Amino acid sequence: MTTDVVFARWRERTERQLHRSLPDPQTPPHGLHQAMRYAALGGGKHMRPLLVYAAGQLFDADETLLDAPATAVELIHVYSLVHDDLPAMDDDDLRRGRPTTHIAFDEATAILAGDALQTRAFELLATAPGSDALRVACLQTLAQAAGAAGMCGGQALDIDATGKQQPVAALEHMHALKTGALIRAAVRMGALCGGAAPAELATLDRFASALGLAFQVRDDILDIEASSEQLGKTAGKDLTQEKSTFPALLGVDGAKKHLQSLLEKMQDSLAGYSERADALRALGQLAVERNH
Ligand code: IPE
Ligand code: IPE
Ligand code: MG
Ligand code: MG
Ligand code: MG
Repeated sequence: MTTDVVFARWRERTERQLHRSLPDPQTPPHGLHQAMRYAALGGGKHMRPLLVYAAGQLFDADETLLDAPATAVELIHVYSLVHDDLPAMDDDDLRRGRPTTHIAFDEATAILAGDALQTRAFELLATAPGSDALRVACLQTLAQAAGAAGMCGGQALDIDATGKQQPVAALEHMHALKTGALIRAAVRMGALCGGAAPAELATLDRFASALGLAFQVRDDILDIEASSEQLGKTAGKDLTQEKSTFPALLGVDGAKKHLQSLLEKMQDSLAGYSERADALRALGQLAVERNH
């Protein structure tokens, strides 16, 4: 099976799990339930769930163990997008080719939908199949990645850096938190489900750190080079909002060179693995070459 076919199957699996995990839009509070489903269903590349399944595959994990972490990390990601788009943050009105959640509903509903998507993620992990030890390890991994030492911390650094230019190391740190943390958590949870040893977790973490940084560098390049139609979100916003990005600091060509070096890092970190790591390799490639 080609990786494209495998990815299509994992994406369908993710969409099905999300559908099942979200509250009934016919029961009250209708607006909240509908907003949660609106934000999470029917869009997105599902990069983080794919990373959970691909890392799990490397260690022969049972797919039924991977469903909860795959769904949970996507729910956290979607919540981060809903809040990222709020007027107090990036103030965006287009996401995944549709009006953002606070535009389609209202700001209070979008804030609450984000909050409830987040808590649903942890509820899913707490009630997941597998051992108690695995459940606790996944809960800890995702909580750490979502919080002040991860995504939220990175978003705070992003806001602090707006209107300023920061040195490469600070920019890398910001990206490692705001985008890298959830990507590293996805890979780690997949590997944990397959019983990966500490040394393997460390190797995969090197891969995931490079991928996470590459994913955001590519996002920042696409913000300049792609159209809003292509992206399903408003292009050109980083420049108008004076965001601190790699292309702003190094130029688009410099940022592209950096991407290539991150791809090499990813390939090197997986060099010791057989074709069982091909799905992960393909996701690394996708992070660097994606067009939306
Ligand atoms: C967008 O993430 C926000 C970033 C962290 C760069 P994605 O590009 O994964 O968004 P979706 O889920 O496919 O919409
Ligand atoms: C967002 O980065 C990272 C998140 C934690 C959501 P961006 O602000 O660049 O993401 P987009 O471009 O709005 O998707
Ligand atoms: Mg942002
Ligand atoms: Mg944004
Ligand atoms: Mg962006």
